[in-house]
Amino acid sequence: MAGATSRAASARTILLRPGADLTGFRDAARRLAAEGVPPEAVTFSAESAPSLFGDDASPGSDAPLVLPRAVTSLIPSVVPHLDPERYGLLYALIWRVLHGERHLMEVASDPLVHRLTRMAKAIGRDLHKMHAFLRFRRVEDPAGERYVAWFEPDHHILEAAAPFFVRRFAGMRWTILTPEGRAVWDGDTLAYGPPGSRAEVPEGDGFEAGWQTYYETTFNPARVNPKAMRAEMPKKYWRNMPETAAIPALLRGAADRTAQMIEREPTLPARREPARAVAAMADQDPKSLDELNAIIRKTEPLVPGATQAVLGEGPIGATVAFVGEQPGDQEDLKGRPFVGPAGQLLARAMAEAGIDREASYLTNAVKHFKFTLRGKRRIHEKPTAGEVSHYRWWLDRELDFVAPKLVVALGATAVLALTGKAIPITRARGPFRFDRLDNRFQGYITVHPSYLLRLPDEAKEEAYAAFITDLKRIATLGAELAA
Ligand code: URA
Repeated sequence: MAGATSRAASARTILLRPGADLTGFRDAARRLAAEGVPPEAVTFSAESAPSLFGDDASPGSDAPLVLPRAVTSLIPSVVPHLDPERYGLLYALIWRVLHGERHLMEVASDPLVHRLTRMAKAIGRDLHKMHAFLRFRRVEDPAGERYVAWFEPDHHILEAAAPFFVRRFAGMRWTILTPEGRAVWDGDTLAYGPPGSRAEVPEGDGFEAGWQTYYETTFNPARVNPKAMRAEMPKKYWRNMPETAAIPALLRGAADRTAQMIEREPTLPARREPARAVAAMADQDPKSLDELNAIIRKTEPLVPGATQAVLGEGPIGATVAFVGEQPGDQEDLKGRPFVGPAGQLLARAMAEAGIDREASYLTNAVKHFKFTLRGKRRIHEKPTAGEVSHYRWWLDRELDFVAPKLVVALGATAVLALTGKAIPITRARGPFRFDRLDNRFQGYITVHPSYLLRLPDEAKEEAYAAFITDLKRIATLGAELAA
C-alpha cells in the first residue's frame, strides 16, 4: 500500500498520439487506475508524441477497468474533442467513479459531468455535420473511378466518422481529406494517412447539377427558417456543397412553394418509393417464376432509362444461384444477365473452377440498368440502398421459386440485398448464413467480377486467383449440399 502511495505521489506524464487517441487513453487510464495514480499527479500530452507512454514506462496492469456503461460510452464521445484537457477530465471522472462515486454520471449538475456531457454533445454535432455535409467528387485514376472529398471538422473526428461512410458507400473507392489526416477506403479496407488539402479535390465533376436537383427536391419550404438553417448548416461547409448554390433562390421562393405544397398535399401518395415493388405485387400473387418475371417485365424502372428488365437465368432447382449487382450496358441491350465483360470474366472463372454455368442460376439484386450519359457512353451507376431495397422483394420471391441450396453474393450490393446490411466484403468473404432469409439456403460472399476488371494490372493476377479459390470452394460446397 505504501508503495502504491509513493508511486502515486510522483508526477506522471502520459504522451498520446495527436488527434483522438482512444486506445492510448484507455490503456493509460487502465494502468494509472490499477497503480492508484490520482488525477492530480498525471499530465496528458497529445502534442507531439508518437509513442504511447512518454515517461511512464511502467509495465502496468492488464486488468480491465470495470466502469458503468454511462462512462464507457462517454469516453469515445469525448476523446475526439479539441480541448487539450479532455484526457485529464476523463481520467478525473474515472478516478471518482472508481473511488466511491459509482453513480456520478447520474449527477447532471456536477461540474465535471456537465462539462464532459457538453463536450460529447459537441462531438455528436460535429459528426452529424460531417455525415450530412461531406460531398464526394468523382475522379478517374488508372484503376478507375474514385471519389474524393474535403472536409474541415471542428474536432478530431475523422476516425470516428469514417465507418459511417464505409457503411454508406461500401462499393465505392473513396478518400476523405481533412487538414489533420485522410481516410482511404479501397472497397475492402479502411486506412488512415497524412493530412490532405482542398487542392487535391477537383472543383467540378459534372455532378453539381445532380446534387442541386437532389437538394431542391428534398428542400422543405414549409420548414424553412433561415436562421436555424444557417446554424444547422454553417456557411463554412457551403463551399464544398454544390447544392448550396440553390439555397438563395430556394429561400426567395419558399413562401410560394409552401402554398403550392399545401395545395398538392392531398394528392401526394401515402407510401414512398421503396414500397413500389410491393405495391406492384399487392393484388398479384405469382405462382411461378414465369408469373413473377412477367410482372417484373411490365414494371417501370425505378430510375428511367433502362431498355428492359433483365431477369434471372438458369434452371429452377439449380444448386447454386449467383446474385450480382445490376445489369450493365450489354445486359440491358440483350436482356440477359452477365453477358458483358464482367459476365465473360465470371464465365471463364466458373469454367476454371469446375462450375457448370448452364446448371447454375444467375441473377441480379436490381433488375434494371442505371447509368449516366457521358457523351454517347452509358456509364454504370451504382444503385442506392433505397433502390436495392425496392428490388429486394422480387429477389426474395425469385429465390423462393428457384430454391437453390447455395446463394453466392457477388459484391457489396448483392450482400446488401441479401442481408439488408452494408457489410465489407473483406470482413465477410467466405461461407455465410443469410439469417434474414430464414436460413433457407447457405450463403457465400465473394467479390464482384467487375471489381477484378477495375484493378490495376499488377494486382489483377492475385485477386483473380483468390476469386478462383472462392469459386472452387463454392463448387465443393454446392456438391456437398446437392448430395
Ligand atoms: N454486373 C452484374 O452485377 N450483373 C450483370 O448482369 C452484369 C454485370
